[in-house]
Amino acid sequence: MAHKAGQCSCHGEQKSFAPIKIRTRRPKAKLPKSIKVAKADEAIFRRVIEAAKKACENAYQPYSQYSVGAAALTFDGQIYTGFNIENCGYSQTIHAEEAAITGALNDGLLKRAAAQGVDQFHAILAVAVYAPKGSDPWPCCNCRQFMGEFGYGMHVIGEEPKDGSILCLTLDQLVPYAFPIEEVLKSVRGQR
Ligand code: THU
Ligand code: ZN
Repeated sequence: MAHKAGQCSCHGEQKSFAPIKIRTRRPKAKLPKSIKVAKADEAIFRRVIEAAKKACENAYQPYSQYSVGAAALTFDGQIYTGFNIENCGYSQTIHAEEAAITGALNDGLLKRAAAQGVDQFHAILAVAVYAPKGSDPWPCCNCRQFMGEFGYGMHVIGEEPKDGSILCLTLDQLVPYAFPIEEVLKSVRGQR
């Protein structure tokens, strides 16, 4: 409804509130240590990281000048890459991790997985992230949620910029209290 300043609460005078203080203790966050990658996985993880590095060369980032590349390793050994694609509307920007996983699904990953008895939560084994201006490979929280649709057990990997060693955590370490996708799926299927 049309309204004029001074006649409604939203255009009214700014109210002033006394600042409040939360007294509940805020514990120091305990950060998980990078997982030591098994010797047997090192070569494939390196290949996935290299694919993320190569992908980031195609990043479209006129607004941030911040390139990100990602690569997803699937249960059947395929590697799908993606990079950030920015947009003048900013919020429409596609993140590298989203692009890599979208590419994997676009190529029929979930159908191939189902055909071999692999569910959506085990189709992607690892996602590498590379940002040349970044200090670690940890995806933003929106990407973590996006990736969680395909299982919190996946490894998230990247290169430690200082010494080139492999940084590795599982997605469930990055999202300890994940929104419970299984409960939502059950609800949609009328199982709860
Ligand atoms: N970006 C990603 O591609 N992935 C992330 O998880 C974090 C941020 C991109 C979005 C934007 O184009 C640029 O990095 C700077 O935020
Ligand atoms: Zn993101």
